[in-house]
Amino acid sequence: MAVEAITLSKELRFGDGFAVIRPRCKDQIENFRDKLLIKTNADTIDTLRRSLVTVSNSELNEIMLKLLGFTEGSGMLAETFSEQINALCGDELFLQRRANIIFNLPGANQRHQWPHYELMSGISPSTYTIWLPLHDLADEGGIFYVPDKESFDVMQQEYEQGTVNSPFMFKSVRCREAPKLKFGEALIFNPFVIHGNMEFNAPLARIAVSFRFQSRKDLLYQKNSDFLKTWTLKRGESDSR
Ligand SMILES: [Fe+2]
Repeated sequence: MAVEAITLSKELRFGDGFAVIRPRCKDQIENFRDKLLIKTNADTIDTLRRSLVTVSNSELNEIMLKLLGFTEGSGMLAETFSEQINALCGDELFLQRRANIIFNLPGANQRHQWPHYELMSGISPSTYTIWLPLHDLADEGGIFYVPDKESFDVMQQEYEQGTVNSPFMFKSVRCREAPKLKFGEALIFNPFVIHGNMEFNAPLARIAVSFRFQSRKDLLYQKNSDFLKTWTLKRGESDSR
């Protein structure tokens, strides 16, 4: 069930650390998806999903290269979820410069996201991530999330063993159910929540997008302007490039 913007901060800081959110209007997500289809020469999202299952690695690389120019995507999505983002961080943001478009292929031995938490990649503890599929999730191809308290317990045990992201962590968080989101719904989560995706069996690939943001008042830590740009919500335009 989607969480209201007003209770979101509590849920992300003191609750499970992740929540399902829904925008007031999903036009911008549809625009985002349409732009992705134009850039990949696909008629529909399912055509693209089907073609991804059979493309070669070099064709897949070519698609990814074309998407490097899709720099307006993170702003479009930030405006879509501006109500929730404003409730957490205000209007003045550091926003991920380029949204990550993620293709996951069905079947065994396909590349998938190992369990991890976002802080591992050097973002600040004040950063939030929004992740959304670009179609309904009808199979197990989504992302699973481990509630905050449990994630911290796993991290603490890893700390005591002197490991990070070890086989111990992989085993501890196995066999979770991925929320079956509808197109237009998104998951928002804090940087401490362990998440990842499992192998799944389906005729079509999964396509999702994620982006990160934090308040401009908070420290940046390792990520800087290579990764982030400034963004002011509601003006709908970047004020630095
Ligand atoms: Fe992640």
